[in-house]
Amino acid sequence: MGMEQDILRPLVTEEELQQRVKEIGAQITADYQGKRLLLLGVLKGSIVFMSDIMRQIDLPCRIDFMSVSSYGDGTNSSGVVKILKDLDMPIKEYDVLIIEDILDSGRTLSYLKRILQERSPRSIRICTLLDKPDRRVVDDVNPEYKGFVIPDEFVVGYGLDYGETYRNLPYIALLKEEVYRS
Ligand code: IMP
Ligand code: MG
Repeated sequence: MGMEQDILRPLVTEEELQQRVKEIGAQITADYQGKRLLLLGVLKGSIVFMSDIMRQIDLPCRIDFMSVSSYGDGTNSSGVVKILKDLDMPIKEYDVLIIEDILDSGRTLSYLKRILQERSPRSIRICTLLDKPDRRVVDDVNPEYKGFVIPDEFVVGYGLDYGETYRNLPYIALLKEEVYRS
């Protein structure tokens, strides 16, 4: 059986995703002319967005990944973040652009930004595909690039998971209530 029967409805379609990713990629291309761009993907949720957006950025750049775990339950993060996989190289000479799937409470990125700031990069900015501003509990995380502002609802697909599943769904969707109960 496929994933279809678990989906309540799509929230952002494949076409809308591709269109928006193109627009943001063009914006980043214009903004980072002459800079030393490092795209920093936050594993695992950002991988689909990362693979699409990097191909819409017409500049020489590097990519790297970090894996962080925020302590908390399935749908809430706590703000205490553990680095599971660090970057492969120093970022001192780089203009770092963090690529994230979704900005929720903002705790994860607030913490990550502070850790990275200590490594003295030239600049740090945030590019998030989705933003749930109603959920924000920190005031030091303001994404310079964002794909879609969405209401306070749990979403899956295009990299985002529920219990490590549905990351491979090619669009953003809401799950049926019964999926959370089973
Ligand atoms: P924050 O620290 O509360 O901003 O948490 C951000 C992280 O929580 C994201 O990187 C996601 O892994 C996860 N998250 C928050 N909202 C959702 C959602 O609606 N679907 C899937 N994951 C989510
Ligand atoms: Mg995540």
